[in-house]
Amino acid sequence: MTPLRHTLNHHVMAVGESPIRRLFEIAADPSIISFAGGHPAPELFDVDGLAAAYAHVFATDGPRAMQYGSTDGEPEMREAAARRLQEANVPASAAEVMVTSGSQQGLGLVAQALFNPGDVVLVENPTYMSALQAFAVQGVELKALDGDEAGLVPEALAAAIEMWNPKAVYLIPTFQNPTGISMPASRRQQIADVLADSDVWLIEDDPYAELRFTDDVLTPISADPRLDDRSLLLGSLSKVLSPGVRVGWIRCPDEEARERIGVTKQATALQTSTVDQLAAAHYLATHNMEEVLAPVRAEYQARMLTLVEELSQVLPAGSVMNQPAGGMFVWARLPVGFDTQALVFEAAQAGVLYVPGPPFYVADPDPRTLRFSFVSNGVERTREGVRRLAAVLGTESTLAQSA
Ligand SMILES: Cc1ncc(COP(=O)(O)O)c(C=O)c1O
Repeated sequence: MTPLRHTLNHHVMAVGESPIRRLFEIAADPSIISFAGGHPAPELFDVDGLAAAYAHVFATDGPRAMQYGSTDGEPEMREAAARRLQEANVPASAAEVMVTSGSQQGLGLVAQALFNPGDVVLVENPTYMSALQAFAVQGVELKALDGDEAGLVPEALAAAIEMWNPKAVYLIPTFQNPTGISMPASRRQQIADVLADSDVWLIEDDPYAELRFTDDVLTPISADPRLDDRSLLLGSLSKVLSPGVRVGWIRCPDEEARERIGVTKQATALQTSTVDQLAAAHYLATHNMEEVLAPVRAEYQARMLTLVEELSQVLPAGSVMNQPAGGMFVWARLPVGFDTQALVFEAAQAGVLYVPGPPFYVADPDPRTLRFSFVSNGVERTREGVRRLAAVLGTESTLAQSA
C-alpha cells in the first residue's frame, strides 16, 4: 500500500526564509563587524528606565500584569499609541488602535484579515523582506511599483491600479527599508489623491519616522481623512525603545476591518503580553520621548555620517549611495560587473558583513545593490569595518591615499 503523504500549506512552502536571518548567524561571531541587521544600538537602550517601568507595574498592578488581557490591547497602551500618532499629526483615538506584538505581527494580521489567495498586492521595489513574507504566506501575487529618488512615483501607482486591480498597496514612506528614502510631503499628497480615487487598501508601515536627523516631521499618508475607510497604519516601539519588548500597533479607523483584524489576532495570539504593554505604557507616560531620543538621534546621525564619509572613499568609482535624513540604512549601488551576493562571502571572510540588495526586490533584482545599517557600530568600529570592505572591493589603495 502506498503511504499517505502529508503535505504542508503550499503558499507557506513557496516562501523562502529571509536571507538576512542566515547572515545573522554569521554576524553572531564577535570578530565580524556587521552592517547587516537592522538592530538598534544596544548600548543606547534605556535599560534602567525600562527596568524601573517593569518594577513599577509589578509593584502597583502585579496580578493584572500577570493575567490574560484584552485582544485589542490594554487601555493604557492604546491611549499611549493614540497620543504618539497625534504627535505625528495623525488623528487617532484609543478606540481606533489595536496593540500588536511589534509591527511584524501587525503585517501578518493585516495580511490574514485582508487577503485571499490570488489577490494582487503592490509593493515598492525594493522593499522590506519580511513584509513580503507576511503577504506571500497568504498566497497573494506581489507586483512591483516604480520609484525614483523621492520614493514611489504616483503615476506608476495609478497605472498599476489600472492594470492589476490590486487589493492593497504596501508602503514605507519614511526612511524606507532598505533604501532610506523619505517621500516628500508633495509626493504623499499625490499618492493620497490616487488612493482616494480607488478602492485599494493602504498598508503604511512607519517604524522609523522618529529616528530623524532634522526637525522635519513627515505626516503619514494615512492621516488624510479621505483614506479612513481604507488605511492601515502600523507603528512600533522597536526602533525607539526596544525590539525585545515587542509592542507595536495598528491604527485602523474602519470599524469592520478593525473587528476582523481583532478576530484574526484572537485566532493567532489571543493578545499581546499584558506586562510588556503596561510597562511600555508606563514608560511612555513618564518620559518625554523627545528628550529620550535626542542623544540616540545624535549618535545615529554621527554614525551615518561616518559610514557615508568612509564608504565614499572606498566604493569603486561609479558607485552611488544615498545619505538618509534618518532611519537606519544606507543603500548603495556598485558599478557594472559587481555582484553583491557573491561578494558577501568574501566580505564575511574578511570580517565584515552587509546585506546584498537582490532579496529586497519582487522584480528585476539589481545584483549591484547592497544595504548597510549604520546604527549598530560606533564610529571607530564603522571605520574598521569599511577598511575591511575596501580590501574585498580592491580599493584599499584609495583609503591609503586619503589617510
Ligand atoms: C519596515 C519594517 N517594518 C516592520 C518591521 C518589524 O518591526 P517590529 O516587529 O520589531 O516592530 C521592521 C523591522 O526591521 C521594518 O524594517
